[in-house]
Amino acid sequence: MPTLIVVGALWGDEAKGKLVDVLAENADYTIRFSGGNNAGHTVRIGEKTFRFHLLPTGFLRPNCTAVLGGGMVVCPKSFVEEIEEISGLADEVGRLIVSGSAHVVMPWHRAFDCLEEERRARQIGTTQRGIGPAYEDKAGRRGIRVYDFVDPERFRQRVEEILPIKNAVLEAFGSEPILAEAVLEEYLPYAEKMAPYVGNVESEIRDALRQGKRLLFEGAQGALLDLDYGTYPFVTSSHPSTAGACIGTGLTPADVQNVLGVCVAYATRVGAGPFPTELSGEIADHIRTVGKEFGTTTGRPRRVGWQDLVALRYSAQVNGFTSLALTRADVLNGLDEVKVCVGYSIEGQTVEQFPTDTELLAKAEPIYETLPGWEGDLSTLKRFDDLPDELRQFVARMEEFVGVPVSILSTGPKRHEVLIREPSLLWP
Ligand code: IMP
Repeated sequence: MPTLIVVGALWGDEAKGKLVDVLAENADYTIRFSGGNNAGHTVRIGEKTFRFHLLPTGFLRPNCTAVLGGGMVVCPKSFVEEIEEISGLADEVGRLIVSGSAHVVMPWHRAFDCLEEERRARQIGTTQRGIGPAYEDKAGRRGIRVYDFVDPERFRQRVEEILPIKNAVLEAFGSEPILAEAVLEEYLPYAEKMAPYVGNVESEIRDALRQGKRLLFEGAQGALLDLDYGTYPFVTSSHPSTAGACIGTGLTPADVQNVLGVCVAYATRVGAGPFPTELSGEIADHIRTVGKEFGTTTGRPRRVGWQDLVALRYSAQVNGFTSLALTRADVLNGLDEVKVCVGYSIEGQTVEQFPTDTELLAKAEPIYETLPGWEGDLSTLKRFDDLPDELRQFVARMEEFVGVPVSILSTGPKRHEVLIREPSLLWP
């Protein structure tokens, strides 16, 4: 029952899509477990660029079954459009199933996301895809599950039951009401298209585990956006951390084997919230331009900063990383020196642990260590040992501080641009 969970180590956008695509070569299943179409994973194969928001990137591997787990919230429009777009562009795709237990993102979720964001004193900078409100309805036991959605009678009943309350709130805040008939007219055709993909994912996952299949769990967002482990309230409303793979798929904690934490050589964040190592000025502009640090889903410029080893160590601890993947080291090429954060100064005190009180984290001043920069075209390298000495020194410092080895290093955006240092740390 080999299992490998891939988790974004900090605030998302760590180039997980490319790594999952590489690792999926040896997988039987690739499984998304949390979030929805707020994610943005890019895979480049030859001259083609595939942009995923909702589907697992493993969909591009015909050897794999791609799964949308029950912990997800699924926008039906995005589901249908993404299947059509990716299938139209790819030479071949794999089998796809969606859990009937997943919840459906409806138009009122997007309306509430925009309304709440407008009125919130502390804006979160959500993707406005309706993710938070869909999870709110799930927790409030008034959500529509995929099972309900693909049964036209159940779907109609649920829409008619839910809309009067949603409309009362929308109208109270000056928004247009949403008409049940218009929703049904738009969404029933999506339901018909989704129906053939719906399955009992949890039971299939258990069977697959018993049969010794190789299961790759594809995290979206990042662990510091986790509703419980992240920088609340500046988080998403799901569990992009290792624990989320269990809640969102039917995997049990005892089945968890390897957990790969993916981190960039620096740090990025989209949306609001504390970010102790954030940079502005020349180096930030350089990183943003060279690294093309603009959100795949929203196109927003990402906030960028130096690598934060304190945050990374916290993430490794709460996620149980068994190894790390390092991406975008090439973006820092040519800098004379690079910095890593090894502590915080908060109200005059030196702090070595990541504060879970977000207000305290907002006051953290980074304490840096400076390391020499590296140069050279990494994309042509074939072995980990061929890396420039300075980059190996950077990797060694990360490993020492975080206490987790680096098993894989991405050297460019293309599928083959990757150095696997220790395969056994990836697939058990
Ligand atoms: P939501 O998930 O749209 O509710 O947004 C909540 C927070 O998570 C915002 O700060 C978003 O910018 C951030 N976020 C959501 N999805 C992603 C992602 O895929 N990458 C990076 N940040 C994300």
